[in-house]
Amino acid sequence: MTTYDIRVVDTRDESLLRAWWEAGAAATADRPIDAWPAWEVSRRALPFPRTDGRLVLLSAVDAGVTVGAGMLFMLRHDNTHLAEGEVFVHPDHRRRGIGRTLLAELERLAMADGRTVMIGAVFAPIDAESPGSLFAAEMGYPVASAEHTKVLDLKEAPAHWGPIDAEVAAALGDYRVVVFEERIPDEYIDDFCGLLSVFIGEIPTGDLELEEASWTPERLRDNERRAAAIGRLQVIGAAIAPDGHLCGFSDVKIDRADPRHAAVGGTLVLPGHRGHRLGIAMKLATHRRTAELFPSCAYVETGNAGVNATMNAVNARMGYRVVERCLDVQKRL
Ligand SMILES: CC(C)(COP(=O)(O)OP(=O)(O)OC[C@H]1O[C@@H](n2cnc3c(N)ncnc32)[C@H](O)[C@@H]1OP(=O)(O)O)[C@@H](O)C(=O)NCCC(=O)NCCS
Repeated sequence: MTTYDIRVVDTRDESLLRAWWEAGAAATADRPIDAWPAWEVSRRALPFPRTDGRLVLLSAVDAGVTVGAGMLFMLRHDNTHLAEGEVFVHPDHRRRGIGRTLLAELERLAMADGRTVMIGAVFAPIDAESPGSLFAAEMGYPVASAEHTKVLDLKEAPAHWGPIDAEVAAALGDYRVVVFEERIPDEYIDDFCGLLSVFIGEIPTGDLELEEASWTPERLRDNERRAAAIGRLQVIGAAIAPDGHLCGFSDVKIDRADPRHAAVGGTLVLPGHRGHRLGIAMKLATHRRTAELFPSCAYVETGNAGVNATMNAVNARMGYRVVERCLDVQKRL
């Protein structure tokens, strides 16, 4: 019997937000990494006003207890046909239709906003299905891109990077790698927006119906301001070509309120500039800087498509190991 209500969470009401957060934390506790952001991170990030899109949080409430959590994000600057949705149900309340009901409400909200495609990420052990993967399949969300979540031990791995440094030094030629924190310097902002705008087209995304992003200096600065305000540090490695323009980037994000782990956002070297070990050079630089700034950071997480041979090789050399599958699922609404 359905006894729960679905409610939109007012993110400024900290007790409602906390209850929503706890349901999500319980639902993701079996993941092999600390996948759910720490409360101190979520309580700052989630209520912060967004200029890049619209975030909606839903709670499923049963007799005053929040038993399920839904999250919907709809981009504003590009990919306006798309909505990203995720649902989480407390393990004690599963198989009662709560996940299905939350998802139906997310889909309704997305369609009301004119979105035609919903995408989401579900996680599963390497050799098995999970409640999430079985649920997605049942809800009409086939896998559009199969990825792996990978983890690098930041305290142990750098000790083994000496031989890679030597290879990088031999291959760099007139290219340089620099690291920026928080903010891209004005002189590189147009180049950097250009890189971000072509990124999606340069990585394998399977059958995901993604369009190119469109980054402007204004959008980038907004993003930087938001990151700074919510305490998220971006360590950005950039490759500079012999002509002085940026030809690649790789970033690491880490929350100051929970610096136990960090995550790679993306890595790209423009096609005309490959073969100089720039990808791995930028990653070594960002990871070293992260370790320097946050000695308590135990691991860095990344994810990339199983078919992305180059990136997989770079990650394996650095010491990344696969910990789970990440399935990007998609449905036409
Ligand atoms: C996936 C999840 C949200 C499902 O929540 P739920 O409330 O148990 O889902 P429902 O009861 O609405 O299930 C709907 C249907 O999905 C399928 N399903 C859900 N969980 C399943 C499982 N463990 N095994 C097999 N099928 C499953 C069933 O067909 C189910 O219908 P049925 O119970 O009538 O057979 C929950 O397991 C969860 O929070 N997992 C961790 C987070 C996650 O993976 N989220 C999904 C993607 S963002």
